[in-house]
Amino acid sequence: MEAVRMTGLLLSVACLMSHTTGVPSTPSTPSSSDCTYMSLLNHLGLINTNVTLQAIRPVKNWTTSTIVWLDMLIFGILEVDEKLQTVTNHIWLSISWENEFLAWNPADFCGISMISVLRSNLWLPDIGIQEDTTDTSSVHVGQFVNVYPNGTIRTELRQKLTYTCQLNLLMFPFDRQNCKITFLSHSANSNTLLLGTLFNDTKLSTLSDRIVITRGEWSLIDIQTKYCLISPNHTDKCKLTYEVCFERKPLLYVINFIIPLFYLLILDLTSFFISEARGEKMSFKITILLSISVLLLILKDLLPSTEDNLPHIASYCIGIFALVGISVLESMLVTFLVDLDNYCGAIKNQKEEEEEEDHPLEVEYFKSGSMELDEKVQENPGKVFLPLEALSDHDVLKKILEEVRGFRRTSGKKKKTTTTKKKKKTYKHLAEVLDHLFFFFYFVTVTVFLIYMYMIWMRNLLD
Ligand SMILES: *[C@@H]1O[C@H](CO)[C@@H](O)[C@H](O)[C@H]1NC(C)=O
Ligand SMILES: *[C@@H]1O[C@H](CO)[C@@H](O)[C@H](O)[C@H]1NC(C)=O
Ligand SMILES: *[C@@H]1O[C@H](CO)[C@@H](O)[C@H](O)[C@H]1NC(C)=O
Ligand SMILES: *[C@@H]1O[C@H](CO)[C@@H](O)[C@H](O)[C@H]1NC(C)=O
Ligand SMILES: *[C@@H]1O[C@H](CO)[C@@H](O)[C@H](O)[C@H]1NC(C)=O
Repeated sequence: MEAVRMTGLLLSVACLMSHTTGVPSTPSTPSSSDCTYMSLLNHLGLINTNVTLQAIRPVKNWTTSTIVWLDMLIFGILEVDEKLQTVTNHIWLSISWENEFLAWNPADFCGISMISVLRSNLWLPDIGIQEDTTDTSSVHVGQFVNVYPNGTIRTELRQKLTYTCQLNLLMFPFDRQNCKITFLSHSANSNTLLLGTLFNDTKLSTLSDRIVITRGEWSLIDIQTKYCLISPNHTDKCKLTYEVCFERKPLLYVINFIIPLFYLLILDLTSFFISEARGEKMSFKITILLSISVLLLILKDLLPSTEDNLPHIASYCIGIFALVGISVLESMLVTFLVDLDNYCGAIKNQKEEEEEEDHPLEVEYFKSGSMELDEKVQENPGKVFLPLEALSDHDVLKKILEEVRGFRRTSGKKKKTTTTKKKKKTYKHLAEVLDHLFFFFYFVTVTVFLIYMYMIWMRNLLD
């Protein structure tokens, strides 16, 4: 029995996939002269619109409940919208139930073993999907249903189903989603209508896995069903629940997010070894910060802005952003300290210059060609010696004086730098110590952070 059903379903799936309609019926030897469908329809009372068959649940004794067998296979996982928390699947449904009024002996009707009847002529169970987001929220049965000699009515349909699902994105992109699709009758209660599946879960899962066409970034893990074949309570509705479990393929997100972020963090770490050519190191770090913020923007488009259960990847991004931000601040501080040194030095230089300018320039005149000049210059290196003849031209003398002053100023500066170097070093030294200390703590923090993130993700993966 099970095997017969199984092959029947497989045949139907094959038919659907090759886009042919109708189930092949093998004509047997006619035992009756009437081989028309009309005679069968006449026998079934379907030749005209028959209200009895259309409106009333097809049972002879009302206490008999109609069992609707509903098997769902997943053809494709088309889309998962993390922001809207909806999933779009391409599903294949096989629905069958029994109509006690429609039965015939194939031998009497030229061996007709199946007849397709307009859907509008028969009673159909009004099965809907609870999680369906479209306004119709029901199963779209095709125009025809197949009727079999034993009274079984079967219909198959393909449908694009968008339904809500509480997506758990904590472990994104290593997440696994469990989505429920609940079938239930809108009008009938469990007393009159029961729902069940012909196949067990393993069969449904393996079949789905075999026929699934589009998976996208997801892989189907398994399908589990929960159905009721015994009415639990008279007033309660019978529900058939499919629990579809699928897992994300994380490779793209690892390449797109996790590795670049990790790489940027390492770059930031190594930027400590860039020489203290100010500005360059800072701009490098700020570039890294900007790159991370671009990735954060992309992430914002992917994930919903829920406050609870912040995905670990968001913590990862924000953690790296904060770390790089702190390192930029630290390098600003170091730059400031070095600048402070220069600034103090500059102030001191100015003061000393002013002091120097107070000293009058000692000038001694001498006759040109005098042999004493060299000796005098050697004795008094600070003094300026001018030839006596030049006195006649005042302008020239002034120019020379200015030049000499300028020379003295520059030579004085050189002396000063050597004297103030020790003072300068205090801030620079502090900056260096701070930089080294910070690098040490930064390195430790980064290592701990990365290990922590790795542990969190691995713990989930192993579960
Ligand atoms: C409608 O169908 C029922 C059940 O098959 C049958 O008893 C009845 O005669 C049919 N009515 C008409 C008008 O064909
Ligand atoms: C209808 O079904 C109930 C319970 O199965 C049974 O007790 C009752 O006799 C049946 N009625 C008829 C007319 O067959
Ligand atoms: C009725 O016939 C169909 C088609 O041959 C078969 O799949 C189904 O299992 C049968 N149902 C019963 C209750 O025998
Ligand atoms: C499911 O059905 C198949 C055959 O259709 C059978 O081999 C398998 O053992 C069943 N599994 C369970 C869990 O019942
Ligand atoms: C069914 O009814 C019983 C009492 O009759 C109740 O305890 C139980 O909760 C009901 N089941 C459901 C699913 O509501």
